[in-house]
Amino acid sequence: MKAKEIQSYVTSQIFGKKIFAYEVVESTNTTAKSLIQDSTDGTIVIADAQTAGRGRLKREWLSEPKKNLTFSVIIKPEIAPELFGVLSLYAGLSVAEAIESVAKLRPVCKWPNDVMLNGKKFCGILSEAVFNREMLAGVIVGIGININQSIFPRELESIATSLLQVTGKELDRFSILAAVLDRMEYNYTSIKTGNSTGIIEGWKKYSTMFGKEITINQDKHPVRGIAKRLDDDGGLILLTNKGEEKFLAGDVALCSW
Ligand code: BTN
Repeated sequence: MKAKEIQSYVTSQIFGKKIFAYEVVESTNTTAKSLIQDSTDGTIVIADAQTAGRGRLKREWLSEPKKNLTFSVIIKPEIAPELFGVLSLYAGLSVAEAIESVAKLRPVCKWPNDVMLNGKKFCGILSEAVFNREMLAGVIVGIGININQSIFPRELESIATSLLQVTGKELDRFSILAAVLDRMEYNYTSIKTGNSTGIIEGWKKYSTMFGKEITINQDKHPVRGIAKRLDDDGGLILLTNKGEEKFLAGDVALCSW
């Protein structure tokens, strides 16, 4: 893939002004990490294929080459570390909004950072903060969106999907990228000003878990409870048999209902 071709789709003023495009990398998050020091806010690292795509909690992210989007966005917001949890919600919200406008579908945001269609995941997000001598150099928001993949490995069939599987139509990957970057730009003002409420309110509109009994797996121990609300830092308040308990995005392996 060529940066110039992708650039011709991009309309955001900040996100995608600078694009590093590759055929194959280990992981776009890892490449972004090596470029972060000299990169400006909104720089994109994108690849047709990853040989070691990473998911949360040391899982892998498998994506068929040239069919989907696997990219990382470098952002340099001056926000308090306790608001990092909101960054995943921010990215998930931006993806959901973009898919709704381009593909006319209504995705569901699943806390903390998956985006779903028909109960299966089509988008995963891995946010990583990068520090340089204890100073925050920036945050890498890695996004994988399954677009035109028609077949998934057997072990993923029941949990993964793509826009092609849902709509029956092939979609233009870079039009979707451009739409995601537009929404990221729009929502960025809330992030930059530390106004997590705007992100949380937007995200809640795409969630179906509130008021329902859900299970989250923390340190391999499942905890059941009613999903009550999100805190300002993106943490989830669950009503369990011990009362209200708060869970942070980074601590949770799986959330289901
Ligand atoms: C998850 O659902 O566990 C997160 C998956 C994140 C995958 C994306 S693909 C682009 C970027 N590079 C990576 O290695 N991972 C993220």
